[in-house]
Amino acid sequence: DREEDLKPRSPVVTVMGHVDHGKTSLLDALRTTTVTDAEAGGITQHIGAYQVSMPSSDRKVTFIDTPGHEAFTAMRARGASVTDIVVLVVAADDGVMPQTIEAIKHAKAANVPMIVAINKIDKTGANPDRVRNELLNHEVVVESMGGDTQEVEVSARQREGLDELLEGISLQAEILDLKANPNRPAQGAVVESRLDRGRGSVATVLVQKGTLKRGDIVVAGAHWGRVRALLDDRGRQIQKAGPSVPVEVLGMTGVPDAGSLFVVVENENRAREISEFRQRK
Ligand code: GTP
Ligand code: NA
Ligand code: MG
Repeated sequence: DREEDLKPRSPVVTVMGHVDHGKTSLLDALRTTTVTDAEAGGITQHIGAYQVSMPSSDRKVTFIDTPGHEAFTAMRARGASVTDIVVLVVAADDGVMPQTIEAIKHAKAANVPMIVAINKIDKTGANPDRVRNELLNHEVVVESMGGDTQEVEVSARQREGLDELLEGISLQAEILDLKANPNRPAQGAVVESRLDRGRGSVATVLVQKGTLKRGDIVVAGAHWGRVRALLDDRGRQIQKAGPSVPVEVLGMTGVPDAGSLFVVVENENRAREISEFRQRK
């Protein structure tokens, strides 16, 4: 893409951290919905992708939720690879735990800047300074200790520190100067996918370049299809999705693996060719 074709885009922020440290609760608080209540046992089993508006402007942030359970290492690795900024959630009463350490490793390996959200500061037994010290052991030096990693104390439950967190994200996004060309065939990554009884293949994709439109022919992994419908993060039908927009895609012939790349191609023959080639591998 030529420099003059690039337009500003929203930051893609992946929320990571140890199981039950409050990632989904924090996202709920930012979106003011209650996804955690609807989750089986309060355990995130999949990656959710949402957009949140900034408090002081009409700009948006795209958030990707990830499960903290140890079985989901691959999902966290995937999350880190499509992301611009990692928000590392650490519960102030529990401190740095195995999946916290793993998330730090993913963020470092992907060379993605991190913002630490020290959550549950409302709890008795919360000790944010202990969290700061524990992070030091993993080469994460927060700003209040002279380092360059932003930290924000938050309580998802009491809705404290949310604006500060969004401001921190906004600041980091400005430094990154994120841009993409919206005027080209779409490309991006599948963040999750499933087979729905009524709707068939449902793939949540994150558009990274270009604009995905209803009717486009997409190839994702070894599957392809014509986009029958696009749904935004609230389940509303939309006609198109530009860079950094997460969207549910209906109409694929199969269920592409999470993490696979998707591209829009010019016609069905080309789509068949590519997907057959990929199936042989
Ligand atoms: P997984 O997706 O299973 O890894 O968990 P999670 O990190 O998304 O945590 P979740 O949002 O499911 O929250 C876990 C528990 O912590 C729930 O019971 C929440 O109500 C509670 N919790 C989350 N944030 C806070 C907070 O700020 N204060 C208090 N007191 N409890 C919180
Ligand atoms: Na949980
Ligand atoms: Mg969760």
